[in-house]
Amino acid sequence: MSEEFEPKIVGFLCNWCSYAGADLAGTSRMQYPPNLRIIRLMCSGGLDPLYVYRALIGGCDGVLIGGCHPGDCHYTNGNYKARRRIAVLKTILRELGLGEDRVWLRWISASEGGRFAETIRDMVADLKEKGPNPLALSWAI
Ligand code: FES
Repeated sequence: MSEEFEPKIVGFLCNWCSYAGADLAGTSRMQYPPNLRIIRLMCSGGLDPLYVYRALIGGCDGVLIGGCHPGDCHYTNGNYKARRRIAVLKTILRELGLGEDRVWLRWISASEGGRFAETIRDMVADLKEKGPNPLALSWAI
């Protein structure tokens, strides 16, 4: 008998939009899978892509980066910086054959609790289809 694979996801969420969206999903009692561990940032622009990489080699099956919609960043342009940095990181992951599609960047506002819950449901379903992160497995002894 084998247990169903449950992906581990780390979510780096900006304080002002995506984290508030997650909070709204919770207070509105929206259902979504419990596979996500949230790390709150003040802005998605403050995320060093190395942390995403470290999460992947450290055993996470997927990483979600959540920020304010374009034009809504509380620090003017942090989300544009995040978008550029994550695009570069994904290029590197793709070149290394390490599954760049395990990294999702999504814009979720404070009023989009439903969008947040749907994103988590979609991501968990996608990662279940992909299976465990082979990069993490290659480091496991
Ligand atoms: Fe939300 Fe910058 S404050 S992305």
